[in-house]
Amino acid sequence: MPRTNLIRIINFPKIEDYRGNLSFVQEGSQIPFEIKRVYWIYDVPGGEFRGSHAFRKTEELIIALSGSFDIVLTDGTYEHRFTLNRSYYGIYIPEMIWRKIENFSTNSLALIVASTDYSASDYIRNYDEFLMTAKKK
Ligand code: TYD
Repeated sequence: MPRTNLIRIINFPKIEDYRGNLSFVQEGSQIPFEIKRVYWIYDVPGGEFRGSHAFRKTEELIIALSGSFDIVLTDGTYEHRFTLNRSYYGIYIPEMIWRKIENFSTNSLALIVASTDYSASDYIRNYDEFLMTAKKK
């Protein structure tokens, strides 16, 4: 089975209210990992991209809290592109998927929920190394 088959959109509860909407994410049934870390990407200048790496072990959930951006994901064979532009769903990305985040709109805010503490050694930043490591799995 291609690893990209494990990628999926996760819809969050959306509590609609005349005072504004509310959504939330919590550990357990909603997301398939224990939450260890949350970080966010913001103030991205026009035309810039983020990512271009894979994680050996880290699983992530990426949410567009504001604005929009595209996520391009590949396992080395299959590629999928998602546009995130609503704050009531996110995309689940398992470990060992190469990702690039691009086309950030003005004032976009990406929230990332991760399954591990930050570790530089969990990154694969060289695409050829990613392909080699993926093949061995
Ligand atoms: P990086 O993950 O490479 O950014 P992106 O994939 O969005 O382009 O992280 C950029 C820098 O921030 C890098 O030097 C590592 C550091 N960093 C942390 O210290 N802790 C974290 O949790 C993250 C995600 C990054």
